[in-house]
Amino acid sequence: MKNILDLLRCPHCGTPLTRPAEGGQKNLKCPAGHAFDLAKSGYVNLLPPGKEKNARSGDEREMVKAREEFLALGLYAGITDTLASVAAESAAEASCHTVCDMGCGEGWHTRRFTKRFAELTAAPVLTAGFDASKYAAERACKCAVREGLMPASGIGAAHDAPASAYFMPGNIFHLPVADHSVTLALSMFAPVAAEEAARILTPDGLLIVVSSGKEHLLELRRKIYDDVRLSDELPPVPDGFAEVVRKNHRYTADVPTRDALAALFTMTPFYYKTTEAGRDRLLSSDLPFSVTVDVNYAVFRVK
Ligand SMILES: C[S@@+](CC[C@H](N)C(=O)[O-])C[C@H]1O[C@@H](n2cnc3c(N)ncnc32)[C@H](O)[C@@H]1O
Ligand SMILES: [Zn+2]
Repeated sequence: MKNILDLLRCPHCGTPLTRPAEGGQKNLKCPAGHAFDLAKSGYVNLLPPGKEKNARSGDEREMVKAREEFLALGLYAGITDTLASVAAESAAEASCHTVCDMGCGEGWHTRRFTKRFAELTAAPVLTAGFDASKYAAERACKCAVREGLMPASGIGAAHDAPASAYFMPGNIFHLPVADHSVTLALSMFAPVAAEEAARILTPDGLLIVVSSGKEHLLELRRKIYDDVRLSDELPPVPDGFAEVVRKNHRYTADVPTRDALAALFTMTPFYYKTTEAGRDRLLSSDLPFSVTVDVNYAVFRVK
């Protein structure tokens, strides 16, 4: 099993990071002396310096909370499980799969994926999840420690589990990750940073882009908008990549309560572009509210 520090690089100067053993210091350091404090949760902030390089779109707390609340119901577990089987079918054999989730949010899918993928491939999986939202990364760390995916003493401590997942704030367009160190890059409902994926992937590495299909949450959209257009925008093959396979998975989820429906609505992009009347219409729907989950998976390999 690799150590997460094998993958990480200093966001200032790109050199390797170590965790000094002496004096019980709780930080990571690079040879140039840049130091990054480890919080109690194991969390370390590796956002790159300089405003222009920092991600602009860290999610709001409200959205992170809504996602935690909705995802905990398990209605989106089908998305993660399909992703894990698509990945296991396409991935080359590896003594340890190294995964980078680019824009992982609060890491619910990331953690579930890491466990499923390790089971399906019967190989250890070491995952690093990055998100622009510090709050989301901190929440993800806490859950990862609770689920045994991350050692309680944080990044850099020994962790001999078959599945590990570490979460850090980071900018997916400037990742603190070593060149060609990752066997699988994931982009789930997030901007696709293909150039950065190509840099961090090993020569036989894969990029998997997970995106909404044309009927995703159709019933919800019909409640909030008068005119719903079905456009199927499949993610294009990114420069420097070749397509391996595409898959679509559709199923129906029954949202059981009004709180769960409100949480689902809050975690969608529609939340920001819906009138109050549209929102009220949705939230006064009959329960359970049956909604289509329609997701596209695109697997690309580095050319
Ligand atoms: C719709 S959420 C998806 C989260 C998670 N992948 C999931 O499927 O539940 C998109 C995420 O991308 C993150 N994001 C957007 N731009 C980013 C950037 N430049 N660097 C890091 N994260 C970014 C946002 O903060 C947000 O958490
Ligand atoms: Zn440095």
